[in-house]
Amino acid sequence: MTRSRPLSPLDRLLADAQNALETVAGAPRAARPNPAAQEADVVLDDAERRHAAGLMRINHVGEVCAQALYVGQASVARDPQTRAQLLDAAQEETDHLAWCADRLRELDSRPSLLNPVWYAGSYAIGVLAGLRGDGWNLGFVVETERQVEAHLEEHLQTLPPADGRSRAILETMKEDEARHADHAQAAGARALPQPVPTLMAAASKLMKAVAYRV
Ligand SMILES: [Fe+2]
Ligand SMILES: [Fe+2]
Repeated sequence: MTRSRPLSPLDRLLADAQNALETVAGAPRAARPNPAAQEADVVLDDAERRHAAGLMRINHVGEVCAQALYVGQASVARDPQTRAQLLDAAQEETDHLAWCADRLRELDSRPSLLNPVWYAGSYAIGVLAGLRGDGWNLGFVVETERQVEAHLEEHLQTLPPADGRSRAILETMKEDEARHADHAQAAGARALPQPVPTLMAAASKLMKAVAYRV
């Protein structure tokens, strides 16, 4: 998502509302091929399939939150370069979102019913973080991406061993998230003071517990 001219506040609000609808209710399209396409579609037994679907639903929610967070942060970013960087990261998160949605369908499952709630909450957090200034904005990206990277590693360990297709998606996502964190760090992120990182970890723990089922 790149924007060539400055948008008025109303334009921006409308663009954000459109992103929210596409993320929550639309069928986001990936710009890159789905990494799962390289892997055989092994038939999982029922328990494995349900577990893999629970994990992929969590990852799908994580990507909904990432979209909302970055779009919210971008809406109040002061520096056009910071805003462009946030929107670029959001574009890669769209790939992740589409890949997770594809895999959920393959596993005969569905995204979280609470996605509108996750989106609204994350957008609000993004705006609040963004209002503190661009150093905070970027610091928030670094903290989010590092936490997501760690959690993807955990999922890579707990996916059913036969589920190569989910694994291929999560491995690519993990590389992308690490790069997002590195870019934000290099662009001047400030370290977030406690208790912010701890609160973020607690919020994502709650989200994971709920999204595994709902
Ligand atoms: Fe992502
Ligand atoms: Fe990311």
